[in-house]
Amino acid sequence: MDKIIIEGGHPLHGEVRVSGAKNAALPLITATLLTPGWHTLRNVPDLRDTRTMLALLETFGVAWERDGSTLRINSENLNNCEASYELVKTMRASVLVLGPLVARMGEARVSLPGGCAIGARPIDFHLQALKNLGVEIELTHGYVGAKIDGRLQGATVYFDIPSVTATENILMAASLAEGVTVIKNAAREPEVGNLVDMLVKMGVTIEGKGSDRLTIHGQSSLQPVEIDVIPDRIEAGTYLMAVAAAGGDVTVTHCIPAHLPALLEKLRTAGLEIKEGKDTIRVTRKGPLRSVDIKTMPYPGFATDLQAQIMALMTFSKGLSVIAETIFENRFMHVAELRRMGADIRIDGHCAIVTGTGKLTGAPVMATDLRASASLVVAGLAAEGTTEISRVYHLDRGYENLEGKLIKLGAVIRREQE
Ligand code: UD1
Repeated sequence: MDKIIIEGGHPLHGEVRVSGAKNAALPLITATLLTPGWHTLRNVPDLRDTRTMLALLETFGVAWERDGSTLRINSENLNNCEASYELVKTMRASVLVLGPLVARMGEARVSLPGGCAIGARPIDFHLQALKNLGVEIELTHGYVGAKIDGRLQGATVYFDIPSVTATENILMAASLAEGVTVIKNAAREPEVGNLVDMLVKMGVTIEGKGSDRLTIHGQSSLQPVEIDVIPDRIEAGTYLMAVAAAGGDVTVTHCIPAHLPALLEKLRTAGLEIKEGKDTIRVTRKGPLRSVDIKTMPYPGFATDLQAQIMALMTFSKGLSVIAETIFENRFMHVAELRRMGADIRIDGHCAIVTGTGKLTGAPVMATDLRASASLVVAGLAAEGTTEISRVYHLDRGYENLEGKLIKLGAVIRREQE
């Protein structure tokens, strides 16, 4: 297992390029299951999660080839519809194969993902919605069995919470359904919009992109497409917070500033200078940090995937910051690790109260999940002394060449085998 060692206290300067979004690439990869033929996906990040998804698709008989960030995928020889526990347990997003598989093949068997470090994370919305579309669902031996004779039937679906992957699963399933499907209280995340664009290119008519009501006119056949994965707003946000914490002046390139409305507003309130270009964001830290309160919300609210990083940032402010996590019930695993670095953080229910002391000191810490690990990197870059982060395989799930990009900005960071 690798660990990352950071010598803190070096301000960051220069330009950093954002990769394609993990959370957009994963549903786009699974959407290729809907129809045979070579699809071309560009700007696909090379991450542990994208590799896991391709390994899963390989078990279905899917062929793929990668050339740099361009991925070509063909599912014409689909010969297996079972997603095994071995792969699903390593990546919850594997559940995204359920919708497209059952829509195209009339059956699918997908291991139930189980809980994870940030909460119970059930998939009941996905299953209920598929039932509405006429799919028979059976839960046995830890697997979801999904079956239908003939085509799925368009229906109305309502989500209690605007779930991102449930919206994506049903968008894909409804694309091959007979008739019209309406998703009410759909997730509005930009990654959902990227999938809508892909499905529209494949020949589906979809109304309501970017809104909480999506209307999908299913088709009996679809065509393979070429599409770009949108930039990773969470990666972009992580670099912005690294600069905010460590100090300096950095331009984040190849990003979409409009995808980070809540974060940019909060960083401005915290005293950072933020300049938005067409596809760039320049962040400059000129003085001390002010504390801000945060409440995570579905898009366009403050992303839960940036909560851990802004908590690390707030420990460097001088003041009180209340951070409310409303999406996942157990997403404060980073708190204990930040405390090891000297942070003063109390948890009260779904709120964390950060008393910023203006500094942290480097310590050995452990990564517990993807974004918790990113928060430890933000903390380590700005802390006094050396921080050693173990279990960095979590980081490798979602950040492409993190150390390389940070070294280019002047960070002193290296990876070692434990
Ligand atoms: C996606 C993202 C993840 C992000 C999360 C919230 C991907 C691959 N992952 O995860 O990075 O943190 O959105 O922005 O895109 N829920 C249910 N039943 C369900 C489905 C969800 O109760 O069937 C609940 C969840 O427990 C959670 C909330 O709905 O409390 C939102 O979760 P959801 O949007 O589904 O998260 P994911 O799609 O798993």
